[in-house]
Parts: sequence; C-alpha cells; structure tokens
Amino acid sequence: MMKYFHEADCDARSSSLERNFSASRSNVPQIDVLAGATQGWGAEFGKMLRHGARIGSAAPRVAIATSEYEAQGAGTRSSPRKDAPGGQFRYDPPFIMDAVSILKNHGEAVKAYFGTLRGRYSDAPPRLLDAIEYSLTAGGKRVRPALILESFTACAGGRPEGPGRASALAAAAAMELIHTFSLVHDDLPAMDDDDLRRGRPTNHKVFGEAMAILAGDAMVTIAFEILAIDADPLAVPALVRELASSSGPQGMIGGQVLDIDGENQQLSLPELQRIHRMKTGALLTASCRLGAIAARQEVHLPLMTDFGRHLGLAFQIVDDVLDVTSTPEQMGKATKKDAGKGKNTYPSLMGLEASQREAEHQLNAALASLKPLGKAGAGLAALGKFVVERNN
Ligand code: IPE
Ligand code: IPE
Ligand code: MG
Ligand code: MG
Ligand code: MG
Repeated sequence: MMKYFHEADCDARSSSLERNFSASRSNVPQIDVLAGATQGWGAEFGKMLRHGARIGSAAPRVAIATSEYEAQGAGTRSSPRKDAPGGQFRYDPPFIMDAVSILKNHGEAVKAYFGTLRGRYSDAPPRLLDAIEYSLTAGGKRVRPALILESFTACAGGRPEGPGRASALAAAAAMELIHTFSLVHDDLPAMDDDDLRRGRPTNHKVFGEAMAILAGDAMVTIAFEILAIDADPLAVPALVRELASSSGPQGMIGGQVLDIDGENQQLSLPELQRIHRMKTGALLTASCRLGAIAARQEVHLPLMTDFGRHLGLAFQIVDDVLDVTSTPEQMGKATKKDAGKGKNTYPSLMGLEASQREAEHQLNAALASLKPLGKAGAGLAALGKFVVERNN
C-alpha cells in the first residue's frame, strides 16, 4: 500500500530525508556540521550553531577536524583518491559539513519566505493559491535553494548574512518556484503522467488539470516578480537573465521538449547528455551561478559554472538510477516507470553500474572545480556529495 504524507508535511519529509541519507552515507566522514568560512575558529563555531549543529556531539569531533586542519597549515587541501575514476584528484575541503543540516536550514528559510505569498497575493483566487502552496510546501529536498545560499556564502567570503543576502534569498525562493512549476507540469498526463510527487498525490490529481497548468504558470510569474521586488536593484537584471535563460527554451523547458520528443527512440550518449544538461543541469548550474551574482562576485562565475555543470549531470544520472533501484516510499514519487515510458536514461543506455560510476566521475570533477574556494567551498562540496549519495 502506497504511503502518503498528507498532514505530516515538510517535517516528515525532512526526517525521511535525514534517515535515508544517513543510511546511505557510510563512506562520508562523520563530523556533524561545520560552516565553510574564511574566518577564525570562533566565527566558525558561531556559524556552526546557526547551521543547527548539535553542540554536545559535534564539538569534540569538530575540535579534531580543526587541529587536523591547522596541522596542515593550509587553507585548502586537495587529496588524491586512489579510487577516483580516471586518476582524478578529488577535492576534500578541510571542513566537513553535514548536507542534511544545510538542506534543512536553507529549506526553512525558503519555507518562511513562501509563508509571505498569501499576504502578497491576497486578491488572487484562493484556490489558485491553495494549488500553488500544495506543491510548494510538500517538502522537496530544496537542493537548488541550498546551492544558491551556499554558493552565495562561499562567494561572500564565508558570511551567510553578508551584503546581498536578500538577493540570494529571493533567488533561492524564485528558483524553487521555477523548479516546482517544472515538476507540476512534468507530472501532467500530457507529459510523464504521474500520480505521486513529494509524497503526495500530484497537483492535477487534487486540483484538476486546468488548475495544475495555471498554478504552474503562476509560479513562473511569481518567481520573476519576487526577484524583481526583493533583490538588490543593481543585481536584478543579471539575476533575472540567469533565471530566465536557464529555465527557458535553451534550458529546462528546451530539455523537457527533447526528453518528450526522444521517447521510444534510441538516442546516442551525447544526445542523452544534452537532454540531461538542459532539463535538469541548467537549473542546477544556474543555482550555483545565482549565488555568485547575488554576492556581486562575478569573478567566481566560471568556477560555479563548472561545478554546476558536473553536478547537474550527476543529479539526473542519479535520478535515472533511483528510478530503477528505489521505491515510491523512499522517493515520494513513482519509480520503475522510465523504461515503460520509453525514456532515454543512463541505465537504459549503459546499465546501472556504469551509470553509478559515471555519477561518481561527475561528482569528482565537480568537487575538483571547487578547489580554488578553499574551505569556503565546504558547504557546496557537502551538497555535491549528497546529490550523488542520496537515496531519495
Ligand atoms: C526532481 O528534482 C526532478 C529532477 C530534476 C530529476 P528533485 O529530486 O530535486 O525534486 P524535489 O525538489 O526534491 O522534490
Ligand atoms: C524531470 O526529469 C526534470 C524536470 C525538469 C522536471 P524526470 O521526469 O526524470 O523527473 P522526475 O523523475 O519525474 O522527478
Ligand atoms: Mg520528465
Ligand atoms: Mg517525470
Ligand atoms: Mg526521473
């Protein structure tokens, strides 16, 4: 019997996220939380608390991590991993952060932001707002907002509250709106025709197709409206451009078109990569770039682009793998559907094992691109590892 999470809402989903991730990360160093920063240890600890560390268990192990770091006497560390495919170097930042805590904290910030929508749109038809809130608050992982806020922190010299925070938060909410719109439409009968999403019946199952289409449309307009109103006016043009180009005909929407057009056709690997980079990679790459733009640190854009491109491809490869290996209870959406729909996926093209290796390979390349950030890249590195090691 399928298990839905009607009332339990975000909390149940985030604890399920924590449970699933904990079970899947046995190879990740077990240090609770550390905030990436370029400041001293006192500031690190303060930020660690803001990130929600459990002091009792975290402090002793944190101290070990710090002395190890100081013994190395360097701001960055690049350690070769013998198991890294292709002899790549894998960048392991000296401070280890806990991806689940990062996702939870940034997720709460975005949820609070969404709490303002009813007040802002008080003249809108209430049922439209119900439909929007239904999908928005259903408890997704919030990977894209977390990437934006961590990329912002990394680019702002390790200061999560630094100038530009309002822009980063608006971009995080706007990106999650665009992503949620893409899911609502992706699930429609005319597209992937799914009944379950984020642990709940899909939007069109509850509100009807017309309302699901319109709720998705409104999510797009709200995304750009809040960005235009809430972000730093000097950053707005670049933020809007980034969000529009990554979601549009040459980004996510274009990728969705190629995905649908490619059903029941045998595509080549480069063709499949192109679809994945567009339908999923574009928004993930933009998330990393938006943090740099919000911080007005465009100098970091090449690095963020590189990180996001590898991570974006890895994300969809893992999504394809989980469709085969996971369950609806774990994923909060249907599984074992791609093959029946004639979808082009990594497992269908190269098998499960090779797909998993390719996701690891892309993760290693993503992590290597963070190296110039030093310890400020720790949060992004943790999110990168989460994307590949998750099981939901
Ligand atoms: C699902 O994205 C759609 C893909 C791009 C594969 P997520 O796995 O991030 O979905 P949520 O936001 O956690 O529900
Ligand atoms: C969808 O890819 C990517 C989007 C842009 C929504 P999938 O169709 O594989 O995503 P899921 O598996 O339904 O979440
Ligand atoms: Mg799809
Ligand atoms: Mg789908
Ligand atoms: Mg999928």
